[in-house]
Amino acid sequence: MEERKVLIEVKDLKKYFNVGRHKMLKAVDGVNFKIYQGETLGLVGESGCGKTTCGKTVMGLYEATGGQVIFDGVDIHSLNKKEKKEFTKRAQIIFQDPYSSLNPRMTVGDIIGEGIDIHKLYTGKERQEKIYELLELVGLNKEHALRFPHEFSGGQRQRIGIARALAIEPEFIVCDEPISALDVSIQAQVVNLLIELQKKRNLTYLFIAHDLSMVKHISDRVGVMYLGNMVEFAESDELYDHPLHPYTKALMSAIPIPDPDEEKRKKRIPIEGEIPSPVNPKPGCRFAARCRFATEKCKQATPELEEITQGHFVACHRVRELQDK
Ligand SMILES: Nc1ncnc2c1ncn2[C@@H]1O[C@H](COP(=O)(O)OP(=O)(O)OP(=O)(O)O)[C@@H](O)[C@H]1O
Ligand SMILES: [Mg+2]
Repeated sequence: MEERKVLIEVKDLKKYFNVGRHKMLKAVDGVNFKIYQGETLGLVGESGCGKTTCGKTVMGLYEATGGQVIFDGVDIHSLNKKEKKEFTKRAQIIFQDPYSSLNPRMTVGDIIGEGIDIHKLYTGKERQEKIYELLELVGLNKEHALRFPHEFSGGQRQRIGIARALAIEPEFIVCDEPISALDVSIQAQVVNLLIELQKKRNLTYLFIAHDLSMVKHISDRVGVMYLGNMVEFAESDELYDHPLHPYTKALMSAIPIPDPDEEKRKKRIPIEGEIPSPVNPKPGCRFAARCRFATEKCKQATPELEEITQGHFVACHRVRELQDK
C-alpha cells in the first residue's frame, strides 16, 4: 500500500475557557488525531463534548491553550499574518448554524465572492461566472446571487455556506454539523453533494455530527469524544461493528436499525446520568461517573488512547477485560 500523506496532525490539543475565578472550562483537553489527504474523519459525541471547539481550534479560529495543529508540516498556531492568510486559502469551515454564520446585510453573491476577493482569485466577469458556477454546483441558481440570506430556507442557507467554503478551492474543510439544521429529506442531498465534491477535488474533511448513521456513511475513520477527550478512534466500519469503549457501545446501541424485527431484538445500553460539567473536571476517566464498569483506578487515573487492534484506539483502563462483554 502506498504511503498516504498526512494533511493534518493534531497533537495533545487543548482549549480551555476561563469562566470565572479559578474556573477553567476544559472544552478540549488533550486530543490527538491525524487526517490523511483525501479522507473524511468523523467526530461524534454528545452535545457539549467539545466537537465545535475542536474544529475551531484546528482552524485557528481559537488560540490553542496547549498542543499543536500541524497542517502540511507546519504548526498553524505559529503562523505569521501572511502565512495565516495562505492557510485560510487552503482550509475552510462550514459552520454549524446556517442562520448566524451568513452576514444578513450582504447579498449571497458577495458572501460567496468575499473569499475570492480576499485572495484575489478572480475579478470582473470571471468572478461573476465563478459565483454562478458555485451556486449551481450546490444546487442553487444564478438568480439567487442578488438575494439576501433571510430570503432562503435553512437548507438553502447551508448550501450557501458550502458554496462560500468552496469558492476559494480549499484542500481541507471542517464541516461542523453541516446537515443537523436541515430537513431529513435534504440531509442526504447535502451529504451526497459533499461526497461528490470530495471525489472531484480530492478534498479532506473533518466531519462533525450527532447523527451516527450519517457519520458512518461519510467517514473513513471516526473519533468519539467525551467531555473534551477522545475516547475511541477507528475505521468507520470497525468502530460501528466492534465498539470497545463503554461510552461508544452505549452510543451505538442507540442507533435505530431499519429492520423492525432486529430493532426489537437489539439491546439498548442506557447511559445513566447527565454529561458532567467540563468546568474543573475531576481527575481520572471523564466517563467514570456514568460507567457501570468503573473501578477505583478509573476514578483516579486518566486512561491514554491505546491501540487495541490495528488502527483501533481506545482510552479505557478496562478495555481488555471487557472486550467480549
Ligand atoms: N466561547 C466559549 N466560552 C466559554 N465556554 C465555551 C465557549 N464555547 C464553547 N464553550 C463550552 O465548551 C464546551 C464544548 O462546547 P462545544 O460547542 O465545542 O460542544 P459541541 O460538542 O460542539 O456541542 P454541540 O453538539 O451541542 O454542538 C461546552 O461546555 C460549552 O459550553
Ligand atoms: Mg457544536
